[in-house]
Amino acid sequence: MLRVAVLVSGGGTNLQALMDAIHQGQLPNVELVAVVSNKAGIYALERAKQGNIPSYVIQRKDHSSLESFQSKFEQTLYEINPDLIVLAGFLMILPSSLIERFRNRIINIHPSLIPSFCGEGYYGLKVHQAVLERGVKVTGATVHIVDEGCDTGPILLQKPVLVQPGDTPETLQRRVMEEAEWELLPKAVSMFADSQGGII
Ligand code: GRF
Repeated sequence: MLRVAVLVSGGGTNLQALMDAIHQGQLPNVELVAVVSNKAGIYALERAKQGNIPSYVIQRKDHSSLESFQSKFEQTLYEINPDLIVLAGFLMILPSSLIERFRNRIINIHPSLIPSFCGEGYYGLKVHQAVLERGVKVTGATVHIVDEGCDTGPILLQKPVLVQPGDTPETLQRRVMEEAEWELLPKAVSMFADSQGGII
């Protein structure tokens, strides 16, 4: 059984895609053992509760220093000890010690076709705003291995999504989620489950 911890910071639609895939029997050898959030009160935590998945909230503002916060975050993940960590709408740079400890076992879903529209400052709606401003006709989503950079790790899966005339950042984000993100993330987790946890 592949034990998966999902890190979240927002609405949790990608977490929901994983939960739905498991519920529909598409991920028979996968168990979501924890949801870890760096923000309280987000809907992703409600989704975890509805799915009876243990959740942990670790917030920077609850710690006197960045070091204390990062140490708590790392310690929590060490104790959970997942086979795979999935960043699903997670908006925080992970400590390099954590990346080293879980080398090639942390994946992220990014809402563009990396290497376009990624890196510092490209997250959530900002990605789709930049896509529309540049006028590209094809965007999409990418699942990649997380390394010490920002959206720089090896690419695992990508799927294109056509930009439609009249798209707004909101309509484009929704389509990229529906047509790409929510399909790719379960597929990437399945690849790990089928390869006994290591695909690189
Ligand atoms: C999505 O655009 C996702 O690609 C990005 O964060 C946004 C929110 O994701 N990483 P979620 O709904 O919280 O899963």
